[in-house]
Amino acid sequence: MEKAGDVQTENLFSISTFDGRTTYEAIIEATKDFDPMYCIGEGGHGSVYKAELPSGNIVVVKKLHRFDIDMAHQKDFVNEIRALTEIKHRNIVKLLGFCSHSRHSFLVYEYLERGSLGTILSKELEAKEVGWDTRVNIIKGVAHALSYLHHDCVPPIVHRDMSSNNVLLDSKYEAHVSDFGTAKFLKLDSSNWSTLAGTYGYVAPELAYTMKVTEKCDVYSFGVLALEVMRGRHPGDLISSLSASPGKDNVVLKDVLDPRLPPPTLRDEAEVKSVIQLATACLNGSPQSRPTMQMVSQMLSQRI
Ligand SMILES: Nc1ncnc2c1ncn2[C@@H]1O[C@H](COP(=O)(O)OP(=O)(O)OP(=O)(O)O)[C@@H](O)[C@H]1O
Ligand SMILES: [Mg+2]
Repeated sequence: MEKAGDVQTENLFSISTFDGRTTYEAIIEATKDFDPMYCIGEGGHGSVYKAELPSGNIVVVKKLHRFDIDMAHQKDFVNEIRALTEIKHRNIVKLLGFCSHSRHSFLVYEYLERGSLGTILSKELEAKEVGWDTRVNIIKGVAHALSYLHHDCVPPIVHRDMSSNNVLLDSKYEAHVSDFGTAKFLKLDSSNWSTLAGTYGYVAPELAYTMKVTEKCDVYSFGVLALEVMRGRHPGDLISSLSASPGKDNVVLKDVLDPRLPPPTLRDEAEVKSVIQLATACLNGSPQSRPTMQMVSQMLSQRI
């Protein structure tokens, strides 16, 4: 039996166009016309279903609440989705395609066994399973993914909606970034592409007064996310206290680290500290002073 991610999933590629009737029908069949029994999550844009296709591939289907792109933008949308389906990186969730029909529109993704990082951190028993070295590895994976999107894709792709809900984990707790690049099309209340992007609590401060979404907005959200992974919950006011004294090594670790885990060993402590320092640099109020994701990704690879 093939699993999601095998070569077999290649044949789903045809659904990145507006036909792909066979796959459309297979998905309707596999989810019994989107029976709630197959629903594994709810997001801002729609419900998420798990579907086992006749080939044995397991995929995730995000059924969009509404899909109201006007005719003028439809071609751009299809081109963009096609480009996103071509992206391949070990820390990025594979987007397999898109289907649109008068009844339903949905995006199809590879299935990640452990679901979202946000959900895992919110549950005590599950969070305790994720030790310091694994947490550092998750942050590293996210940094590699964003560095790839910003620096290795032409044109660069800005995620726009980095949050712990958009980091999914596989069976080995390896991070896979999801929902990149689609935020600008699928904003909740927008028929307008420049509406404020992002999830509350992760949005870079400059977006409140410039509406300009840049890579540096993702860097800020990454900083929030990295602190969240260390703390076990959203860092909240820790953000302002840390970014008020950047570069200083006076962080009291126990105020920043998840109290549900035993304190890091000496070996883990050095890594944890450097992650916190890097995250703090990413939270700089001035976008130009934040490091690039390429710098962050390289620094994490060197030290750890
Ligand atoms: N590829 C996937 N594999 C496994 N589970 C998934 C996958 N995609 C989504 N999920 C599950 O569905 C839930 C909802 O995902 P969804 O992306 O719709 O919402 P969200 O990430 O919470 O918010 P947003 O609308 O900002 O993306 C996730 O929290 C996760 O549990
Ligand atoms: Mg999501």
